[in-house]
Amino acid sequence: MLPERFQDYKHLIDNYLNAVIPPDETSPKPIYQAMRYSLFAGGKRFRPTLCLAAVESLGEDATKLLAVAGAIEMVHTYSLIHDDLPSMDNDDFRRGKPTNHIVFGEAVAILAGDALLTTAIESLASSDYDHDIRSKLILLMTQAIGTRGMIGGQVIDMINETKQLNRIELEQLHSMKTAALIRFSAIASAVVLRSGTGVEEAFVNYGESIGLAFQIVDDILDIEGKTEVLGKTAGKDAKKKKVTYPSLIGVEESRQLAMNLVETACARILPYDRYSYLRFIAQHVLDREK
Ligand code: IPE
Ligand code: IPE
Ligand code: MG
Ligand code: MG
Ligand code: MG
Repeated sequence: MLPERFQDYKHLIDNYLNAVIPPDETSPKPIYQAMRYSLFAGGKRFRPTLCLAAVESLGEDATKLLAVAGAIEMVHTYSLIHDDLPSMDNDDFRRGKPTNHIVFGEAVAILAGDALLTTAIESLASSDYDHDIRSKLILLMTQAIGTRGMIGGQVIDMINETKQLNRIELEQLHSMKTAALIRFSAIASAVVLRSGTGVEEAFVNYGESIGLAFQIVDDILDIEGKTEVLGKTAGKDAKKKKVTYPSLIGVEESRQLAMNLVETACARILPYDRYSYLRFIAQHVLDREK
């Protein structure tokens, strides 16, 4: 059971995104329809929820982080649209629906991803935060999703289909591809509130640990989960012969590793976790079924 407060976050995030992206009827229609299709297909909103939970844990109102939370969800949705393309993971099912390129065609799907990324940066750049905070947020987010972060991770992931990775390379891959954006989701509130380097460090460590655990669990769910529950096709990693934690060290050891990471994360965040939301989120990374 999620804390009831997380339902409020979901509404806040959905309403924010709904206000930022023009309605379906807006010209040129295909781009807005495609952006909205994936954005409102039924994602878990894990990253923006983390963002809002973090700011409340630091004693400020959730709405203070909405611009960042919205940008993060847009960027994440863009990464999924592109990840599913025929030239990448070639998936036809996502968030319980046919993938963006299946519905709108490859060209529009690529542009919808591009547009979500662009809109995310535009909304941060035009947000109400002070100039120095805005610059820092944009810098940290673009670092998290660029070639030293998510995109670099996606490239290593592609190479991973033809080359055997060792454990260190695999950790690097997960850290870049998935943990980097989750780390940014965790630290953003400390940046906005100018909480200082001590707090920022705690949130970075927490974000890194749950981010790694998140991708390890994603890899386990690819083996053990059901397509109907996951909302995306199970069993794809084995089919593509990807090196994942389960393929390298087995499911049980992978689960143990994820548990250790979550334990580390919880210990690190304890002094700032006034409502236990952040420990709850960390635990949810392990317990989730989708
Ligand atoms: C899927 O992310 C991609 C990974 C980094 C594993 P999520 O599991 O958060 O997907 P949605 O947003 O709920 O669809
Ligand atoms: C994708 O990892 C992570 C991204 C940065 C999009 P996966 O390829 O494992 O994600 P799923 O399983 O398709 O959601
Ligand atoms: Mg992929
Ligand atoms: Mg994929
Ligand atoms: Mg996966």
